[in-house]
Amino acid sequence: MADLRVEIAGVSFKNPVIPASGAFGFGHEYEKLYPLSKLGGISVKGMTLNQKDGNPPPRIAETPMGMLNSVGLQNPGIDYFLEKELPYLAGKETRIIANVAGSTVEDCVTMVKKIEGSAVDMIELNISCPNVKQGGAAFGTSCESAAGITAAVRKATTKPLMVKLSPNVTDITAIAKAVESEGADAVSLINTLLGMRIDINSRRPVLKNNVGGMSGPAVFPIAVRMVWQVANAVQIPVVGMGGISSAEDAIEMMMAGASAVQVGAAIFTDPYAPVKIIDGISSWLDCKGIASVKDIVGTVQPW
Ligand code: SIN
Repeated sequence: MADLRVEIAGVSFKNPVIPASGAFGFGHEYEKLYPLSKLGGISVKGMTLNQKDGNPPPRIAETPMGMLNSVGLQNPGIDYFLEKELPYLAGKETRIIANVAGSTVEDCVTMVKKIEGSAVDMIELNISCPNVKQGGAAFGTSCESAAGITAAVRKATTKPLMVKLSPNVTDITAIAKAVESEGADAVSLINTLLGMRIDINSRRPVLKNNVGGMSGPAVFPIAVRMVWQVANAVQIPVVGMGGISSAEDAIEMMMAGASAVQVGAAIFTDPYAPVKIIDGISSWLDCKGIASVKDIVGTVQPW
């Protein structure tokens, strides 16, 4: 059987498949379907310093081959996670990635300091959040603010630091290089693409928040393109996500340059998707006679 192990920022994962933040909660519902130990890791729901109820409904809408969400970071807060959720997850023999989503640099710094002595294996800094002290534009939409928040968080933690990039930018490679230069150990991409739908009878947006983040198979080619561009622009590992729903998609993303993949929207249509993708990668590697999944990373041969 092919070797599925990968390493990202010094952390070893038993396989390269990780349920994406926001698509898997803290794992409870899925543990009823399969052992969480099957997964390479789990990126938990994006957390803020204090508990958040999120946006009012409707906050999820289907789109052709995808979905729009404006959940608004509903989460129980970092203290609840550390006290109540982490002890449960820590016994599951999978890597735990804490997705940190603050609306100020100070909030993010406070959160990673709280996480420092815990069983969390890696921090995923979500820079798609609005920077409330600088007019509300997301941290991840300018090199300056992306670099600034990365530098501050880097100083505050010794945990491996992965920065999750927003695709809602002109040049994602510039943002990736900015966070790399401030000490990010890895980058993950793509977060959702900003979108909007309108109900033509009521003339109201379908989401109460008017706009939301689009994910699902429709965004997959955009994600592959951005992962390929970023993997060629930085030296640190890239974790690819955005519309992955099959083993073939995961393999394609890894050939584009991803060392591992995250699976998000596909879990809402098939909660077994991550496990099926792990098994499918393994079968494909065996079928092709490839000894290790690491051997396919970045192997696309551009024309
Ligand atoms: C949300 O909870 O609104 C999604 C967060 C994100 O896309 O980073």
